[in-house]
Amino acid sequence: MSGTFGNPEIVDVTTDILIIGGGMAACGCAYEARRWAPDAKITLVDKAALDRSGAVAMGLSAINTYLGEQKPEDYVRMVSADLMGITRDDLVYDVGRHVDDSVHLFEEWGLPIWKDKGSEDVLLKDGGKPVRSGRWQIMINGEGYKTIVAEAAKKALGIENIIERCFIVKLLLDEKEPNRIAGAVGLSVREHKLYVFKANTVLLVAGGAVNCFRPRSTGEGNGRTWYPVWNAGSTYAMAAEVGAELTMMENRFVPARFKDGYGPVGAWFLLFKSQALNGFGENYVTKNAHMLADFAPYDKAAVVPTCLRNHAMLHEMKEGRGPIMMDTPTAMKKLAETMTPKEIKHLEAEAWEDFLDMCIGQAGVWAGMNIRPEVTASELMPTEPYLLGSHSGCCGIWVSGPEDLNSPANWKWGYNRMTTVKGLFTAGDGVGASGHKFSSGSHAEGRIAGKNMVRFLRDNKGFAPALKGDIKAIAEEIYTPVRNYMEHKDKTTAEDVNPNYILPRMLQMRLQKLMDEYVAGVSTYYNTNAKLLAQGLHLLTMLKEDSKLMRAKDLHELMRAWENYHRIITAEAHLRHIQFREETRYPGFFYRADFPKLDEANWKCFVNSKIDVATGEWTCFKVPHKDLVEKHYSGQAKH
Ligand code: ADX
Repeated sequence: MSGTFGNPEIVDVTTDILIIGGGMAACGCAYEARRWAPDAKITLVDKAALDRSGAVAMGLSAINTYLGEQKPEDYVRMVSADLMGITRDDLVYDVGRHVDDSVHLFEEWGLPIWKDKGSEDVLLKDGGKPVRSGRWQIMINGEGYKTIVAEAAKKALGIENIIERCFIVKLLLDEKEPNRIAGAVGLSVREHKLYVFKANTVLLVAGGAVNCFRPRSTGEGNGRTWYPVWNAGSTYAMAAEVGAELTMMENRFVPARFKDGYGPVGAWFLLFKSQALNGFGENYVTKNAHMLADFAPYDKAAVVPTCLRNHAMLHEMKEGRGPIMMDTPTAMKKLAETMTPKEIKHLEAEAWEDFLDMCIGQAGVWAGMNIRPEVTASELMPTEPYLLGSHSGCCGIWVSGPEDLNSPANWKWGYNRMTTVKGLFTAGDGVGASGHKFSSGSHAEGRIAGKNMVRFLRDNKGFAPALKGDIKAIAEEIYTPVRNYMEHKDKTTAEDVNPNYILPRMLQMRLQKLMDEYVAGVSTYYNTNAKLLAQGLHLLTMLKEDSKLMRAKDLHELMRAWENYHRIITAEAHLRHIQFREETRYPGFFYRADFPKLDEANWKCFVNSKIDVATGEWTCFKVPHKDLVEKHYSGQAKH
């Protein structure tokens, strides 16, 4: 029987492996799990369309993690240094030793990778030399990057096992076995259908979180952010709600981007060797080097950590020496010194292509503002905060690591990348304390998870999932926003103004305002303290209560409502972790004004948290940190 709006048809799907998400990690898992389990039923569910979903949807102009001739140990050192010393060396090393294999697959599948002169036609795996934009990054023609990677995943699973346009609202535990995953429930955003999945093992890879904080872009630019707007924190929220332990949720990423268009800076800094200057033409990182030493020690072999580069920039802005400018004309002039006119034209084209490959809006800003990078410098700006675990941030879920790296016993409990909920795995943005994976590392990590899920499946062959909770009641709960709308829509002459319900868009603004003002958003220059956080938590608790009053006038808005619920839970985790960690570990990302210093003695540790599923109570606690790869700590930053 087909459903109607508010009375959806219930579709039951039973599968061995359920993949929630369609990004790089999901595609990696699909490919790898199929290799090891040719006969298993593997189902992938994506709220969008696999070809263009996830953070890589628009494409990329670089792959930011390719080791080549470098050692995984050095990669571990870089990641640890950039994230101020608190990362899981076992997880990072594991990505480092496998990531190049994923890049080789991308090339085999048709991704064009720039090569140095002389090895243009040689594949990377046969010794071809990539054009390096930095120590870890290589250049690609990547507008179609995601479609290429998705095609391989589709081929592995078969199109009949991929359900698109289905938004997962919550995970479901097993009725008989405590702390055991059994499935998930989600809604179609195109048809009146509610999907109920039963699975032996589940991979939760739904990306990081955007739009928890008030973005800098307002009015006509509203909706423009750096990380894709559709990343709603579903990974962290759904994991937390079934009792999975989270880690480092206090960490965030505040990228310095080209102002208003959020264009990437990596190629400019690393490939074009451009400098960022304050409004008076001074290099603020060099100028403020003494400030950075306060936040040593960090690995003297590494470059200045991302948050500390922001710290130096913010200092200039606060003291009134803005705007911050990316000096593109000088960089291009320098590069052009040794070039023929034809090569110079090519260089100018590359400058545009960098944006056209991955952030078309920035090319639009340049065109609209009459900016020619060879003539005009461009303004940079630190953005609103994002929560993620794959880029230069490391919040996420606490997972079991590889067995062979001599790690502490509490870092491994059997299956690599399994969370503390039996049978629930994650990768990419989902895995905490292990940043700098980027696109390639997320794919590689999805593959690691996929292989281990197959092992889990074999070891748990006899398991018959029985869903905890009454599905009818769960369906009712999911459709509450629709009921709110149906019941109250006629009590007003203007549908969008109604005392009985809240539009998801309005609720999102309320969330963003409070996170901005109390939890170290842009309006306070990323400052907060215990008092502000306590008030913020009070307001967030009220908001969570009011979230039950969101309305949905169509399926699209129903998805928006639940996305915002996921954002609230993610925001709460972030707030509670910041509240717990009484130091300033990531200056330039955020400041605890009441604890303005780095406190190695008390806080060189992970902060983990967990919701008690029986009581709903949230607790934060310390977990000891350990270096597995030797770090070269020094008291001084190297520039
Ligand atoms: S992107 O992900 O949106 O493409 P971006 O283009 O800034 O981001 O690239 C990020 C990569 O460049 C990361 O590997 C980051 O560590 C590196 N990066 C960016 N700026 C610098 C810098 N000033 N110094 C060193 N590395 C940098």
